[in-house]
Order: sequence, then structure tokens, then C-alpha cells
Amino acid sequence: MTFAYRDGVLHAEGVALDALARRYGTPCYVYSRRAVEQAYDEFASALQGRDASICYSVKANSNLALLSLLAHRGAGFDIVSGGELSRVLAAGGDPKKTLFSGVGKTSDEIGFALERGIACLNVESAAELERVRAVAFEKKRRAPIALRVNPDVDPRTHPYISTGLKENKFGVPYAEAEALYRRAAAAPELEVVGIGCHIGSLLLEPSPLVSAVQRIVQLVERLESQGIRLRHIDVGGGIGIRYKDESPRPIGEFVRSILAALGRRPETVVLDPGRAVVGNAGVLVTRVEYIKPGEARNFLVVDAAMNDLIRPSLYGAWHEIRTVREAPDAEALYDVVGPVCESADFLAKDRRLAAREGDYLAVMSAGAYAMSMSSNYNSRPRAAEVLVEGTEARLVRRREMVEDLFALERFPG
Ligand code: LLP
Repeated sequence: MTFAYRDGVLHAEGVALDALARRYGTPCYVYSRRAVEQAYDEFASALQGRDASICYSVKANSNLALLSLLAHRGAGFDIVSGGELSRVLAAGGDPKKTLFSGVGKTSDEIGFALERGIACLNVESAAELERVRAVAFEKKRRAPIALRVNPDVDPRTHPYISTGLKENKFGVPYAEAEALYRRAAAAPELEVVGIGCHIGSLLLEPSPLVSAVQRIVQLVERLESQGIRLRHIDVGGGIGIRYKDESPRPIGEFVRSILAALGRRPETVVLDPGRAVVGNAGVLVTRVEYIKPGEARNFLVVDAAMNDLIRPSLYGAWHEIRTVREAPDAEALYDVVGPVCESADFLAKDRRLAAREGDYLAVMSAGAYAMSMSSNYNSRPRAAEVLVEGTEARLVRRREMVEDLFALERFPG
């Protein structure tokens, strides 16, 4: 177990979380190197023997230390902005193993990606195809492209994180993809290299992904019959993790189902997992500032807030909360809330927690879409990030200082 109690204290690998909280302050993100590597290796071993590429989805957690350790393990990257490309480059990632998705790439971002020799731009509309053409012409570079096709498959997940339905803004409609591929194949500025899709996040079992892959394979076959041959099929990310009592199928089972759906297709298979690699490799450690009993509800006011972890406020997401010092469940129910001036500022509701002022709590499953979605709302400096390896802990992002928050601001006069 990556996060487990030892002698009554919650540890990350071999390091006690209360010691980290005292050393680095709170709120503080703590990641386990071993957990990240194990999850990545599950993908790698399930893909062994198949021509495949694992492109870690940077948006899940873009800390340079994590990107660098994944790059060393052979990962490629799935990015959605010039900023993410710069992070990949800074971390020593290989642009030739990097795919650029997203519905709103600017000309500058497209140009930057082409200059750096990106593996593929995942084009999401006819208008974007024209833009990529124009930028490639101007840069005198042939742009490697794939279309991100919307397979119109219901992932049966939260509406905010489902992306492959007709009503979503993502991807090229399935029915229009063939014509657009013909247009791309005829353009000398473009090199058609692949096809992509991503139906949504937090999938607990492979069947929606299998349906999407089947639809994509049919399209690939039709393209092939018209002489359009692709080098890779990108099936996206979306494999879920356990937050509460869900039982997602193991990574290996997802991968085997995807490979089965691809059958004997010769193209390189690309997966771009985010959450499944880092989600359960991180926790957010926070301190109880006040206990506030109320008429209708009792509150534990902690020093982390929605600006540090927005998933509960934004999606109603459930994150397990543990006391860092092992304690029997309390009688009272608490809402765990932060200091931000919003009623939506809560990390958890109705939890039995035995905590006193000054105690530390760990918000579990906070490795993905946590720090990467953080903000400075209420002028709150962002939390520190710590990477644990065995019995060692290293600061991989220092806590922001208040001066960092207004360093870019100027008086008009
Ligand atoms: N590939 C593409 C094209 C994507 O859009 C995404 C995520 C991924 C891969 C990675 O998906 P994953 O394996 O992490 O499920 N903020 C939300 C999740 C948004 C996901 C957006 N796209 C959350 O906190 O649940």
C-alpha cells in the first residue's frame, strides 16, 4: 500500500505525513514515486509485444518532476496547450512522442509545436485543419496531423467529463471525418499520420471504450480502401480509479479489451491516460484550523480550500478524508470546508472524523486534476508539492509566496 498507517500515522511510502506537514507546511501535496511508476508499468506491461505508445496526459498533473520521471520511463505525452509543451520540453520529454489535442489551438501554439517537431496535431475541426495548413505553409514545414473523431459513444460518466457525445464540443463528427481526411490527404502542407478519439474520463469498465474503438476501426478501414493509410490509432485516456467504493477494472483488462477491439490492425496503438497514472499516487495534506459546531451542520475548517482542490465543488466529486493520526471514527458528522468565501468551498460533506484543532488530515486520491486545476482565488498562494521515494522526500514545487501573487501587477501611473 502506498498510503497506509504505520504505528498509528499515515505514511506515503516510508515517510510519515505529519513529519512532511511540519517540514513543508500545509496545505501540501504529497506524491509517491513508486505509485506513479507502478501505474505506468501496468500500462507498459499490458502493451508488451504490441507496437504501442503511452502518452501521459499532462493536464492531470503537470509537475516537472513527475513529467521527468515518466519521460525517463519511456512515456510520450498528450498535451493541450503551448504551456504544456513547454513543460514537457523543460522536463526532458520528447516532442516526437508528444501529441497535441484541444479544440482551440492558436496559430502561435501550432507554429511552436511544428518548430519543436511534435509527433502529431490532433485536429478537432475543419476550421482548425485550414489553420494548421496555413501555419505549416508559412513555416515551410509539413504538419503531421490526426483527426480527433467524435465516435458518439456514451461513456456513462459525469456529464462534465464526458467528451465523446454529439453534444460535446470535442472532435470532428463521425459522419464528417471521411471527407475531412480526404481534404487533408490532398493538402501538400499536411501529412496524415493518425486518428484519435477520447470519449470521457473516469470509465470503470472497458465496454464504452471498446465501442469507440470499433467505430474508429471501421473508419480506418474505409480510409484504407481509399488509399489513406495511418500510422497510429489513439484511443484516448479515461480509465477510472477508485475514489470511494468504485471498482474500476484493472488497467491490464482495459488494455487487453482495447487490443482485442483493434484486432490485427497494424497501426501503432496510442493510449493517453492521465488519472489512472497519477490519481491515486497523491494526497493533499491539510491542517484543521477550527472546529465549528453549527445548528444544522458541524464544520471542520481546514487550511486547504477549493482553490487547491476544486473537484468536490465543481463536480460534486467524493474524496476520502483520513486523519493523519489514526483515530476511531467520531460520533459527529462534519463538513470539511476551506477558508474561501464561497458556500461551494468544501472538500467533503458528512464525514465521521475524530479531529482536533491543529490535527492534520489527508485528502486522498489527489494526484490528478488537483494541483493542476488549482488557482489563487482569494489571493491564496498555491500549495507546496513533495515527491516521496522510499524514505526520502523532496520538495518538487515550493509553496508560493504572497509576493508571487502580485509580482506581475503594475500601478498605472
Ligand atoms: N486524452 C484526452 C484527449 C483528454 O481530453 C483527456 C482528459 C485525457 C486523455 C485524459 O483522461 P484521463 O485518463 O485522465 O481520464 N478535470 C476532470 C477530468 C477532465 C478530463 C479531460 N480530458 C476531473 O477532475 O475529473
